[in-house]
Amino acid sequence: MGVTVRPAREDDAEAIAGVHVETWRDAYAGLLPQEVLDGLSRRRQMRRWRRAIRDPEGELGQVFVAGAGADGIAGFGSVSREAGEITTLYVRPGAQRRGVGRMLFHCMAEFLEGPVSLWVLDGNPAAGFYERLGGRPGVRATVERWGMELGRTRYCWPVTPKRI
Ligand SMILES: CC(C)(COP(=O)(O)OP(=O)(O)OC[C@H]1O[C@@H](n2cnc3c(N)ncnc32)[C@H](O)[C@@H]1OP(=O)(O)O)[C@@H](O)C(=O)NCCC(=O)NCCS
Repeated sequence: MGVTVRPAREDDAEAIAGVHVETWRDAYAGLLPQEVLDGLSRRRQMRRWRRAIRDPEGELGQVFVAGAGADGIAGFGSVSREAGEITTLYVRPGAQRRGVGRMLFHCMAEFLEGPVSLWVLDGNPAAGFYERLGGRPGVRATVERWGMELGRTRYCWPVTPKRI
């Protein structure tokens, strides 16, 4: 299946919000408080992603969307040149393990034109995906969110990763 990646447009915000909510509820069940997942709102996420798309210099950076086949948006991600960091990367549960995440990752890494880093929440199986793409775990840190301490690990690629 061919995967295409392009910069997001404002009219992608609704589909991105749908993928965001669906993927969070699937991937973070048992890792984040259930009330946080239940309380996710597509409408709020749509507004948030529309703001991010309008402001590529903002905290999330440039937003990209991936399509595969005729099913609309299969995944999305965002990447901040200022931070040298991939800030988000999500593939809809029904579209995972078909190369969408890899294609998004490489497009965003190439957009950075240099070292790449990103944070992975403790217990998230996505760590295996980043290791498959050559990332190595580095610094560990905790962040306080939703009244709890969340552990996370920074994955790094010292130079632009080669497509494998
Ligand atoms: C992690 C994620 C982005 C991977 O995307 P994907 O489209 O499923 O991954 P791909 O199909 O491109 O996989 C690329 C390679 O990584 C491997 N891989 C994918 N997920 C993996 C995992 N959880 N553990 C180990 N390897 C994995 C694939 O088998 C493939 O390897 P291959 O080349 O040997 O076939 C996706 O599963 C996802 O969105 N997960 C939920 C949200 C999330 O945790 N996002 C990351 C936040 S830091």
